Amino acid sequence: MNQNTKDLSSSGAKTFYIHTYGCQMNVRDSELVTNNLLAHGYTLSDSEENADIIIINSCSVRGKAEDKAIGKARLLCARRRSPDVVVGLMGCMAQRFGEDIFEQVRGLSFAVGTRAESRIPLILKRLEMGEDNISETGNFDDDTSGSNYVAPLGEVTETRISSFVTILLGCDRRCTYCIVPDVRGKEHSRQPAEIIAEIRALADSGISEITLLGQSVMNYGKRDFKWSEDIPSPMGFTEPLPRLFELIVANIPEITRIRFTSSHPTGVTDELISAMSRIPQLCRHLHLPLQSGSDRILKLMRRGYDTATYLDALKRLREALPDLAVTTDIIVGFPGETEEDFEATRKVMEEAQFDNSFIFKYSPRPGTPAAELESGVTEEEKMRRNRILLEDQDRRGLAINNRSIGTVTEVLAEGPSLRNPKRWSGRNSQNKIVLFEPGSRISVGDTVLVRITRARPQTLFGDLVEKSEI
Ligand code: 5AD
Ligand code: SF4
Repeated sequence: MNQNTKDLSSSGAKTFYIHTYGCQMNVRDSELVTNNLLAHGYTLSDSEENADIIIINSCSVRGKAEDKAIGKARLLCARRRSPDVVVGLMGCMAQRFGEDIFEQVRGLSFAVGTRAESRIPLILKRLEMGEDNISETGNFDDDTSGSNYVAPLGEVTETRISSFVTILLGCDRRCTYCIVPDVRGKEHSRQPAEIIAEIRALADSGISEITLLGQSVMNYGKRDFKWSEDIPSPMGFTEPLPRLFELIVANIPEITRIRFTSSHPTGVTDELISAMSRIPQLCRHLHLPLQSGSDRILKLMRRGYDTATYLDALKRLREALPDLAVTTDIIVGFPGETEEDFEATRKVMEEAQFDNSFIFKYSPRPGTPAAELESGVTEEEKMRRNRILLEDQDRRGLAINNRSIGTVTEVLAEGPSLRNPKRWSGRNSQNKIVLFEPGSRISVGDTVLVRITRARPQTLFGDLVEKSEI
């Protein structure tokens, strides 16, 4: 049980539960709202059924994600155990639908958009005063308005070792299929001092690994602020993201691992590669969405690179970092994607030797330029292409992982595996899940050495070894 749920029955404080869909940024936003509500005297409920306030943090990236959140919200509203139970929606869908969401979900108490979530405590008070159907969406033109980060620092969630930290809000890129710019607004970089304070609080609560988040995280600080000359760069970096890495390392020694996502191929600069090879805390993993291996489709997607540029970025990365793991996102069935385009994607994926790939079936998003295009690809065909790419990836992932059998890898121990609690689970620098027999003296957060004995496409298995045994 979480430390914050202990005194529920005696305190009489209202309890809340947040149900999170979507990406890592949503996970972090839910934590920030959690912290904010705890600071306002609410307590966490350990189950949705018992909570006085249930909040759904929603995602709009594909139609299916929206259907899930709407279905869940409808169910919660229909089955609330008393009329006093508050059911609210936050996140990308709340931003996209605005007031119209109340037509979709009867009985919803409030909807709060992506940059207004810090106002949830205020909204709860207004609901108590008798208001209903409150809708608030953040104002994207005013960067200072209602970002989540007015939430008090100090991390009070469960014991864990890893956390996300959003450093870049919004997105200015406008890929033709993507709803994100509409629901997360203009790109806005958080100030280094604010980020450092947040990571300091996380480190104080036991976090040793952080993942810095942004839609195009390499754009961090490139446009909307000038890096202060007072902050030196001992490694001689000029780009804001490498300088932020240096600042984190210099100020927060408890952070032993730093990851960042998502990357864009055009952001793979020599300086970034240099930072990755010179700063030992930076992990050997990059999530570099390709989206398609057809230059024609990449152009229609307005991705801003072709396959040659993508593969060149990969080559430069791997030359400097031979043990780098690279993962990707692919969309199948973009409007007009032919068999030839699809085969081109298969070919580039093989050439790129991705360690893992996330394959998505194209979903038209209202208001995006691609939604205006004639599809030409049936649902069955999307499913077939999806299946083929997954099979390819399984084969490739297994071959790559098999090559690591016999090697020793450093793992940050996360705790007993959910499937088989006799085994422990952790991740190595390449972000691969490693399962191992725990032995007798192991604690959550320990860094251990594991010799790999067996592999699956997405998992490594092995035995603990001592440094002296290598
Ligand atoms: N349809 C399908 N997949 C999408 N993605 C983004 N928008 C869409 C869409 N309309 C995928 C991209 C992105 C990932 C987070 O979701 O591959 O990288
Ligand atoms: Fe979903 Fe994109 Fe919003 Fe994340 S930013 S929750 S992926 S729509």
